[in-house]
Amino acid sequence: MSQQVIGNDVDRALEILRNGGLVGLPTETVYGLAADASQKKAVAKIFATKGRPNSHPLIVHVASIEVARQLCSLWPHSAELLGSTYWPGPLSVVVNKAPDVLVEVTGGHQTVALRVPGHVMAIELLTHFNGGLAAPSANKFGKVSPTTAQHVLDDLGTSVDYILDGGPCAVGLESTIVDCCGDIPVVLRPGGITTEDIQKVVALGVDELGISRAPGMLPAHYAPQCQVTLFQELAEAMRASETFDAATLRVIDASINPLVFASSMYAQLRQCDIDGIKHLRVVLPDAIGIGLAIRDRLTKAAHGPKSQSR
Ligand code: TXA
Ligand code: MG
Repeated sequence: MSQQVIGNDVDRALEILRNGGLVGLPTETVYGLAADASQKKAVAKIFATKGRPNSHPLIVHVASIEVARQLCSLWPHSAELLGSTYWPGPLSVVVNKAPDVLVEVTGGHQTVALRVPGHVMAIELLTHFNGGLAAPSANKFGKVSPTTAQHVLDDLGTSVDYILDGGPCAVGLESTIVDCCGDIPVVLRPGGITTEDIQKVVALGVDELGISRAPGMLPAHYAPQCQVTLFQELAEAMRASETFDAATLRVIDASINPLVFASSMYAQLRQCDIDGIKHLRVVLPDAIGIGLAIRDRLTKAAHGPKSQSR
């Protein structure tokens, strides 16, 4: 009898990873598509499965700050402050890579993004794995990120060898990426750890939202099939939707409780497509706290799947 693709067998996941296979990895942000970061062929499978360009670097997940230090050539003070404060958690730091970190993982760059995920099952797996797991979000390139094991199966099917089911992701959107290579750290992608949180620990550069500097970040991303339109006020969203067919229209107010909204945002985008929604109107939260990351993702989703260059 064929084995289940979704389950909670950490030993099975470990064996698959050691043999160069792909595992759906639960984290607190989104599910990752994990492979052994030290095996070129395994890493190549990630790119092939996602349909992702080879130049887009992957985040390497590790069990602890001690392992993270071993994967870089120089461990910056800012990375130490951020890692020791927010790991395990939704934060990735970009540092200069150690010589043995594969350029296939880093998109040809001499830097590597590292993160200790805040999910018990991920930590258990990583602790036993005793190395780095390269893992992008486990969705097809440009599409909505997965926040349940079922989403991973829906998107990638049996091209993933096994999916560890760690339940729905608590944060629901990707990690904050901070470039720690320069004298002053820079936020490359807003995420689960807010800019305000980061500023409690390190001073950020004036271009703290230099998002365009992160390789592989495109204007269109995280996009459902339906058309996403963004509004600042609910009244404005309702007014602009009066003439639309109610059966294919959905209005979501993300400004009421941004933290709760974040945790279900991708599931809601997916549900729109399942329900045959054609026009999704979203009222944006303020650009503070988690609101900044929500606005970033929804702005990219609003560029739509058709404007995505693939
Ligand atoms: O929360 C997350 O970060 C999730 C979970 C699975 O950990 N992962 C994730 O990976 O969002 P992905 O591949 O979807 O996005 C990784 C982003 C890329 O857009 C890339 O630009 C940036 O990380 N990145 C990776 N390595 C980098 C590097 N060396 N320098 C700059 N940016 C880098
Ligand atoms: Mg992604």
